[in-house]
Amino acid sequence: MSGGRIISLLRRNKALNHISQSSLKRSSSSRVLNDEASSLNPCYRLFSSSSSSKAQLVPFRSIGSLTARSSIISGFRSFVHNQKGFYTKYLRNMSTTASACAQDKEGLKLLVTAGPRAQKMVGIWLFTSAAWVFSMVVLGGVTRLTRSGLSMTDWKFTGSLPPLSDEDWLIEFEKYKQSPEYKRINKGMNIDDFKFIYWMEYAHRMWGRALGIMFALPFSYFLRKGYITPRLGLRLSALFALGAGQGLIGWWMVKSGLEEPPSEYAQPRVSPYRLAAHLTSAFAIYCGLFWTALSVVMPEPPAESVAWVHGAAKVKRLALPVGILVGITAVSGAFVAGNDAGHAFNTFPKMGDKWIPDDIFSMKPIMRNFFENTSTVQLDHRILATATLVSIGGLWWSTRKLDIHPAIRSLIGSTMGMAALQVTLGISTLLSYVPVSLGTAHQAGALTLLTLMILLNHTIRRPSLSLLKSLPSVAKNLMV
Ligand code: HEM
Repeated sequence: MSGGRIISLLRRNKALNHISQSSLKRSSSSRVLNDEASSLNPCYRLFSSSSSSKAQLVPFRSIGSLTARSSIISGFRSFVHNQKGFYTKYLRNMSTTASACAQDKEGLKLLVTAGPRAQKMVGIWLFTSAAWVFSMVVLGGVTRLTRSGLSMTDWKFTGSLPPLSDEDWLIEFEKYKQSPEYKRINKGMNIDDFKFIYWMEYAHRMWGRALGIMFALPFSYFLRKGYITPRLGLRLSALFALGAGQGLIGWWMVKSGLEEPPSEYAQPRVSPYRLAAHLTSAFAIYCGLFWTALSVVMPEPPAESVAWVHGAAKVKRLALPVGILVGITAVSGAFVAGNDAGHAFNTFPKMGDKWIPDDIFSMKPIMRNFFENTSTVQLDHRILATATLVSIGGLWWSTRKLDIHPAIRSLIGSTMGMAALQVTLGISTLLSYVPVSLGTAHQAGALTLLTLMILLNHTIRRPSLSLLKSLPSVAKNLMV
């Protein structure tokens, strides 16, 4: 679908959304909202009752009447299975607010306004896309760790069929034999081993292209159906462009590994800067998709009392910088991977027999050491990882007595556990000389930790003004 077509569909959706908002406002003056006003706010009730009504199939233009039913969809169920029974109830009920019931709320901007069913469909699509990106990152990690990334020596944006006959395989193998990696590291490799590394790289590339199609087709369908608001449309178009750019960055990265290294002793490898750019961009796409999916299905954060909203605001002051620190640590990990710095010192806590290696500033200018010197890059990653663990521990410690929503408390606990696991995985990876299994688990762990940080930061957002106004000062029936 062309850019112009997307823009015209978004304009049409904007107009339709405007119509739906007006019809909604009309209906809000009706008996329905008066009824609702006498009881709990429907959006508020979402978080305190698990017997919510089911998602309803409503035509887009009859959205106003939907308000009357205060329908609620459970788009976001049990993202964490908490062991403690009563938490589970709250977690399960962190489902989405009915789009229609929340539509006329002050300060609440919905990303999908075409009703709960549309909200649910778009949410499922976006969560699936995020999970796909997650799997792409893991597959990319395996490709790198099995040293398969330089097996394909050319690239087409649209992709191509793999070699199908023995003759095709021999042609591909011949091309690979001209590459510096074959000449310096894999000389004498047999065709079966070549086929393995080729298939790894091929799978990574094709999985990425499949993601592009899996994203674009539902996107154009939802646009046509009028489910996508202009705000969401712009955000998703930006993510789609980043995704397309990711393929280009990937090839730009691989190209650097196909060039002859500057010295005859150097091993051919991709530029650490390009690898870091590729990984960081994958993280950014994942985070953007996951955050957007959450915003679609959970437009309001869980808030049952003003006290809990205040508690969440206090958590936010710490959770935001901690989230940024996790992101920086992950990017520093990308430089460890890009420089193969995991093999620089395979001891812990000391690096060799020193706490700080002697050569950390051996490169000139000094700045280069932070990105290219394996000792400095590994030391940075250790320091940042320790700071991350300590700050997540600090977040957990300083919030343990706060009056906060149980879901938020549970998320902080899970983040703490995941940070400890991630550090353990990192140390194990290092001590065992970066095996494929642990390296991959450590990479997936980084993304899981980021996921939890996003979830936490999303959950402690400030609720809309109208939800805030409807809240009691203290949560009722906490343990029921
Ligand atoms: C919160 C803590 C941590 C986070 C978020 C984190 C994140 C990352 C990330 C994103 C990578 C790049 C993954 C890849 O492309 O393969 C990485 C690589 C690495 N990290 Fe960590 N890490 C953490 C803690 C640690 C610790 C404590 C150590 C050991 C002291 C460690 C050792 C390594 C090593 C050796 C690699 C390179 C693995 C490879 O070459 O594939 N990490 N880390």
